[in-house]
Amino acid sequence: MNEKILILDFGSQYTQLIARGIRELNIYCEIQPCTKPVNYTADLKGVILSGSPFSVNDPTAPKPDIKAIADKLPVLGVCYGAQLLAQQSGGEVGKSTHREYGRAHLQAIVHDPLFATISDGSQVWMSHSDSIKRLSEGFTILAHTESIPVAAYKAADGYANNPVYAIQFHPEVTHSTDGRQLLKNFVVDICGCTQDWTPAAFIHETVERIKEQVGNQKVVMALSGGVDSTVAATLVHKAIGDNLFCIFVDNGLLRKNEFEQVLEGYKHLGLNTKGVDAKQLFYSKLEGVTDPEQKRKIIGGLFIDVFSEEAKHIKDVKFLGQGTIYPDVIESVSVHGPSVTIKSHHNVGGLPEKMHMQLVEPLRFLFKDEVRRIGRELGIDDIFLSRHPFPGPGLGIRVLGAITEDKVKMLQEADAIYTQHLRDSGQYSQVWQAGAILLPVQSVGVMGDERTYEYTVALRAVTSVDGMTADWAHLPYEFLAKVSNDIINYVRGINRVVYDISSKPPATIEWE
Ligand code: XMP
Repeated sequence: MNEKILILDFGSQYTQLIARGIRELNIYCEIQPCTKPVNYTADLKGVILSGSPFSVNDPTAPKPDIKAIADKLPVLGVCYGAQLLAQQSGGEVGKSTHREYGRAHLQAIVHDPLFATISDGSQVWMSHSDSIKRLSEGFTILAHTESIPVAAYKAADGYANNPVYAIQFHPEVTHSTDGRQLLKNFVVDICGCTQDWTPAAFIHETVERIKEQVGNQKVVMALSGGVDSTVAATLVHKAIGDNLFCIFVDNGLLRKNEFEQVLEGYKHLGLNTKGVDAKQLFYSKLEGVTDPEQKRKIIGGLFIDVFSEEAKHIKDVKFLGQGTIYPDVIESVSVHGPSVTIKSHHNVGGLPEKMHMQLVEPLRFLFKDEVRRIGRELGIDDIFLSRHPFPGPGLGIRVLGAITEDKVKMLQEADAIYTQHLRDSGQYSQVWQAGAILLPVQSVGVMGDERTYEYTVALRAVTSVDGMTADWAHLPYEFLAKVSNDIINYVRGINRVVYDISSKPPATIEWE
């Protein structure tokens, strides 16, 4: 990477959107907490200050010295960033007469590189309860809106060694119709970035970096069939070939035929993968366990045991490959204290500690959609790239209550019917995640002349962007009718199908 933009995060919910907006312009950028000092490396071309839930008048609000940064590089302050700059430069920020949230329109835009090709009336998205009341001497207002006098401004020429801009609105949200153009004007025209961070360039640089890091040593990696581990392994393989050893564990909680299909897919990708059948070990250790967190711990712990035992058979392996992605790495700016664990998701988190190996993490700086773009460029089959997220504990947290092999088989059949119908009807790619859940509930039914007393399956399908919030997918009734009919007719032991119509929050995507 020979150029990058730094985003100083003050805790806004939109910070990652700024990063994605910049990266879509083929410019690499990183997010860093505002409390960390800026490292002025030669590749750094500009700094963006994010919004924040803090008020600049709050005594505990974070306040890095913006002028010091602007003496080194061009700066763009967004929302809180704009207010902090106003305050630090001798202007005034105070409570707005009313909270401004939602759409507004820029007026009287001044001719300036930041607003090149953006015209009066441009819709922007506001979200603030403080406003800039007064700017320091020599600072220029670049636009106002119907309700605030300072929607955008520029620091006085002599204020710092580089241009300093500030905007009260959020260019990173799609409701700001020229937001992307404004970000482009800043990073390309004002910071001078060349937009050469393409998937092909990323692959080239990453492969070179892995070669340098690993040399002719060996790397071992756990694969899951998911997008991240598959793309990460393909990159490592491109760099070191058969010195990459992959392990895919069948924990008995995968989907129907998934173990065989995924192994076959890996063969096509040229990955040297060992499939390990550990089904019975998992079933035996899970026997009678009903608590969801306990199940997660057992499944995660056993996985580490099985994987590290297998890895021991590979001689002299020094590196552990992982498909870690950027959202797992970004240090969050905590405004309300540490968040409470709702579900312990990172079930393989203990792997690196246990293995005492150096990590190879080629996707450490990518968002999920970028991983898919890289995967496409690497020629990886869409079967891998478009796969719905599937939790590490697999069907273990979708068989509610105690897990038995028979129950897993029942659920695998129901899930396979559901997934096939989703694919056949073109709905699979429309929903973010879908799956079937086996409830620990039996109910009465009638089949032919016989009374039945069998299990219920719940179908779940959600739309979402990142899994943090989700809505239930409004699948057509006819579709649900077909799925329900086929599950009840073809899966022994199930006589009732229900559809989950809860959003997250307050529900979660998984039932356990
Ligand atoms: P929830 O149920 O918290 O799920 O709304 C959000 C996303 O996380 C996945 N999930 C997990 N992934 N290990 C994982 O690797 C887990 O223990 C786990 N629990 C939930 C879930 O499938 C959804 O995509």
